[in-house]
Parts: sequence; structure tokens; C-alpha cells
Amino acid sequence: MPDELSTAEKAALTSGSEFWRTTAVGDVPDVMLTDGPHGVRKQLTGADHLGLLASEPSTCFPPAVALGSTWDPALVRRVGEALGDEARAMDVAVLLGPGINLKRTPLGGRNFEYYAEDPLLIGVLATEWVRGLQSRGVGASLKHFAVNSQETDRMRVSADVDERTLRELYLRAFQRVVREARPWTVMCAYNRINGVHAAENRWLLTDVLRGEWGFDGVVVSDWGAVVDRVAAVRAGLDLTMPGPDPAGDRALVAAVRDGTLDPAALDTAAARVRALVARAADAAAAPVDADAHHALAREVAARGIVLLKNDGGLLPLPESGTSIALIGRAPRFQGGGSSQINPTRVDDLVAEVAALTSAPVAHVDGADPERAVAAARAADVAVVLASSGNETEGLDRDSLELPAEQLALIGRVVAANPRTVVVLTNGAVVLTSPWDAAVPAVVESWLLGQAAGGALADVLFGRVNPSGRLAETIPLRLEDHPSYLDFPGEGGHVRYGEGLFAGYRGFDARRQAVAYPFGHGLSYTRFGYGPATADTDGSGVVVRVPVTNEGARDGREVVQVYASLPGSAVRRAPRELKGFTVVEVPAGATVTAEVRIARDDLAYWDVRLGRWAVEGGAYLLEAGASSRDLRTAVTVEVTGDDTRVPLSADSTLGEWMADPRGARVLTGALAGGPPGILSDPEALTFLGSLPLSRLAAFGQGPDAAALARLVEAANA
Ligand code: BGC
Repeated sequence: MPDELSTAEKAALTSGSEFWRTTAVGDVPDVMLTDGPHGVRKQLTGADHLGLLASEPSTCFPPAVALGSTWDPALVRRVGEALGDEARAMDVAVLLGPGINLKRTPLGGRNFEYYAEDPLLIGVLATEWVRGLQSRGVGASLKHFAVNSQETDRMRVSADVDERTLRELYLRAFQRVVREARPWTVMCAYNRINGVHAAENRWLLTDVLRGEWGFDGVVVSDWGAVVDRVAAVRAGLDLTMPGPDPAGDRALVAAVRDGTLDPAALDTAAARVRALVARAADAAAAPVDADAHHALAREVAARGIVLLKNDGGLLPLPESGTSIALIGRAPRFQGGGSSQINPTRVDDLVAEVAALTSAPVAHVDGADPERAVAAARAADVAVVLASSGNETEGLDRDSLELPAEQLALIGRVVAANPRTVVVLTNGAVVLTSPWDAAVPAVVESWLLGQAAGGALADVLFGRVNPSGRLAETIPLRLEDHPSYLDFPGEGGHVRYGEGLFAGYRGFDARRQAVAYPFGHGLSYTRFGYGPATADTDGSGVVVRVPVTNEGARDGREVVQVYASLPGSAVRRAPRELKGFTVVEVPAGATVTAEVRIARDDLAYWDVRLGRWAVEGGAYLLEAGASSRDLRTAVTVEVTGDDTRVPLSADSTLGEWMADPRGARVLTGALAGGPPGILSDPEALTFLGSLPLSRLAAFGQGPDAAALARLVEAANA
């Protein structure tokens, strides 16, 4: 940081001047950061970030819940690009997204802002979102870093997570996006991680984010996340939002003056903010085509729709000759809170449905079940729109059930007309069991943005053949969910007790039945899988799977590859998503899907070594249409990393004997001692867990000096 700026000016650079702007200092102008993530929410006036004050109209793209269900990185990239164009046109330097927290519990109030319950899926999609946005000269803000998987007590709660789980599940998507897309900013979360506020967490913000992952951008606080400016800057936080924060600025100056804060820490934070402002100056705005963006919103929304069930091929609906009773209110299309967009327009579902059929469409809003039942009875097909409550930031849900009156309505409509389609609208999972047993067709439409109406009509009539896949498991009961016993925590702590077994990993590990598994989603055609083949090289594995469209309609299949390592030395979920790709397959054709798995993605976090490691062995790679619809498998031999942990006096007899060099050294040393210990399997079982240093207590082991020599020899 050039010395022409005073300490006070540097402090001012590291906090906002108001709710959405950095502070202009000297020749450094201010820039705007604003929400995000599924549209640009540039507020017209004032300092409200809860969506209460009006914002400029912008395209409301499908929220992350729907983007996640597309499983389509190229499509998500186009959304990022369009958002970048809109942000640029509104002179916004940083759009506050994407939200990439892992969906730990289906009750999470902000799940609609997040992508998936799997870190690979989140990371691959969010990487493209960030690349798309930043290709337009607008910065992303990867949020909320980290482990912000619930709204309950979100400003204080400590997410207590063991390090392997943290690394493999809750940090992994952040790591991927930081490395591959180089976001301009990362937003630290409100919560604590293992007791330490994210904003003051030096391990997280500096050691891991910058030291290990090479992040070179700005760490911005979530709005109001900073309690102690000095502690935050010391930990590696650069920009505190919102502002102004004159007291915090003064505290920084005082801390530099009295030596409690290294001046270099403030210099660095101020320099990073300055670099961010300079980055933003480079981009030029281009006019935005609102029609084209609406069309993109519709295309993406249709791709995010998941066809859960379609007995007897009730869907798609014919475009003539089949009258329809459309029952229910207009679908919600976004959730509440800071992400709420003022859309440029909103599709009318009834009009969109009517536009695609020449047959009569009767619409009743569902509030009067008698009229709904009569309409259903009079029509060839009934379509019921069912919706959960209004998911919002700041509040977790307390149930996965649809409201009772909607369940009753579904029951009565199906009784009146068995040819009933239920269209679900919800920001996070709702239970489908047991009511779906009586309903032939169920469509999960999530929250789809402003083009929800058009997109739904496209899928209902088959203009778009559905290809959305679940990015989160739909359980049979809330109680089955791996997070159930440890959510939302108490006494300021939430223990991630299920550890590595979050989401489908936990359901699979306990072989639990689910309503619809992770990765599930039907099409209006059928796909057959040929035998998978695989090639390995130093950088990873390429799996190839021939996919045949066995039906009469063109379609898109999401080919998913899950890995497991039978006999692994570490605990693992039965299978983990390691790669996926979307293939377009014309009717009757066969296309070979190619799924690349990077070697790094096969790594687990080794807690003994404190680093990532690839375990060697024969990996089973299963490819299929969902995590529980695996159609073909191939085994690949992978050479492992060196994961030898140095032997010590504290290593057990068993560990010494399991290590070839250790066994040799120890056997030699004990050769003259009492017979039997090392060669007698029973004795070894009995004494195997004894640290070598303790063996002496049983009159059997080497003394301290001999032990030291053994350790040296074993590790030489
Ligand atoms: C939210 C962030 C958002 C920020 C600014 C916070 O309450 O957690 O996601 O970007 O407000 O509106």
C-alpha cells in the first residue's frame, strides 16, 4: 500500500461508506456490491437489505435450487454471463453470490439459495457461474464462508464439525471454486466454526483460504458479521460491510498506533480493497436485452424441473383433445430475504398453459375445494399446484410436510379424477410420501424464477423433455434424515454429528429407503446404458458410457458416476458422486457420455497427515441415472499417494507390525526376548493395541534408549 495514504484512510478503505458501497479515499473511487445471487437487486433508496425497499427491475433467474437440479455447468455459466451483463449495466462491481453452502438439512431456510447436498455438484456448477459472471468484468462473492447451513441462531451459532468432514464436505466446493474460477471476493459467514467466528477465524480466512488455496481477492464480511474489526483484520478479513463504521475505523487506527495490530495487516487489507476497485474499473457496460434474458430464464427453469413420477405416461399432455383443470395459485418463483428480486416481468402459468393447447383449460385457485373437485371431475386431466410455505432467509422450516389443506385438496382431486398431475413448488424438499402413491404424475418445480409459468407449460406439454435431477434426497420421513438428531443444536452449538454421512451418503450407509434418491429424475423417453469403460492417467480417470435413447423422443440424460473403494482403510460413504455429464441423445441414437474424474477428487482428508491423500486400490466406478439407479460399473486401479505415518514410541505394536520396515526392525530387536509375542497371532491380537512405549511396563519391551533407536531405524 503506497504510503501516501494515512492509517485513517487505510482503515476507511476497509469498511463500507454505506450499505452497498465501499469508501472512496483519495484517488480510489468507491464501488457497489449488491445481492445476488439469482438477479441483480440494486436498491433504489436507503439502507435496507431485507427486500423491503424497492429495487430496480432485473431478470429473476431461477434460484440456485433449480440451477442445482439442471446438473448442467454450461447452462449455469450462461446464467452467470447474463447476470454479469445486467450488473455491469447497473454499475454494480460485485454481485453477492453464488451461495454454495452444502444443504445439510432439508429444513434449511435458505436451501433455495444453495445448490446441492453434494460438494462436487455444488463446486462444478458454481465454478461455471463465477466464470460466467466474471467474464463480464463483474466480481463474484462466494458465500457464506463457511459452514453456514442453517438460519437458526445464524449470527452466533457454532457449527462444530470434525476436520475431515469440514474439508471433504463443507469446504470442498469453496476450495474448488476458489482454485478454478478465482472469484474476486469471498464472503465470510455470520456463524462460528468450532467456536470461532468466521470473521475472526484466521485459520479459515488466511491459512486455508489464502495459504492453501491461493485466494488473492478480497474477503468481505457478510452484512453485520463483524463483531471486532481489529480481530477481523488480524484474521485476514479485508472489507467490513455494511458501513459506515467510524468506531471500527478508529479502533483499527488505535490498534496500529498502540502496536496491537501489525500495520502490515491493515496495509494488506486496504491494498486488496484497492485492487478490487481497480479490477471493477476495467469493464464496459453493454445494453441488456430483457427479452433474451427472459428467454434464458425460461430455458434454464425448464431444465431445472424434475419429473419425479410419471406412471402410465400421463405426461406429457397432448396439445389438443385433452381438457385440463388447473388447480391452485400461481407458483411462487423465489424465496424471501436478501436475494429477493424485483422481476422485469412474470409469466402467467394459466396463460402459458392455454397458449400450448387448443383444448379447454379451466382454472380454479384451489381455495374452494368443492369447485376444484368439480373442475377436476369435468376435465380429462387435473393439474394441482401444491406449495410449501414461503422459505426465507433468517428462518429455518419446522416441517417437511405440505400444508394440511393442500394434502386434503390433492386427495380429493385424485379421488375425483385419477388422471391427476401434482406440480410441487418449494425452495427445499417437501415430503411426497404417502400421498404420491395415489398420484400418477408428480413434478418437482422448486422455485423457478420469473419464467416459471412458461417453463412449467413447456415441460407439461413436452415442448421440453425434462432432464432435471434431484440435487438433494427426498426422504420418506424427516426423522430418517442424517441431520435429524443434530439440528438445530442448542446452547449456541450445533454438532455435525452425522459427520461424513450427510445427505445421500448417510441414507446409503444405513441402507435406508427414501422417497426419491439423490440424482433421480425421469424423462419422457427411456435411456439404456451400455458397458462402461475407463482409462486412467496421472491426472485422473475418464469413464465412457454408451447411452441409447430407447424411446421415440429426443432427450437429455444426466450420466452420474459414483465411486467407492472396497476395503478402504478409512471410513467412507458407500458411494460418492465423482463426476457427471449431460448428453443430448436423439431418439433411437446412441451417444457415448464421457465423464472425467480428476485425481484430486478421489482424495480423502487424512487426519493423521493433515493433508489430502489418494488411497491406492481398485476403485469401483458405477455409472447410472441416479445414486440408486446404477446401470454399469467398471473397476480402475489407482496408484495411491504415500500415506505412511512415521512410526513413534506411541505407535501400537499392531501399527509397527503392519508397517513392513517397522516389522523388520522390531522383529530383529525382540528376537532375543521372550518367545511368542510377535509370532503368536493370539498374543498379537491381545497386545496389538498397546503403544510400544507401554510394552516395557509388561516386562517385554525395549527401554527408552532402545526405543528411540528403533524409531529412528524404522523411519530412516
Ligand atoms: C445475507 C447475505 C447477503 C447480505 C447482503 C446477509 O444478510 O446473509 O447473503 O448477501 O445480507 O444483503
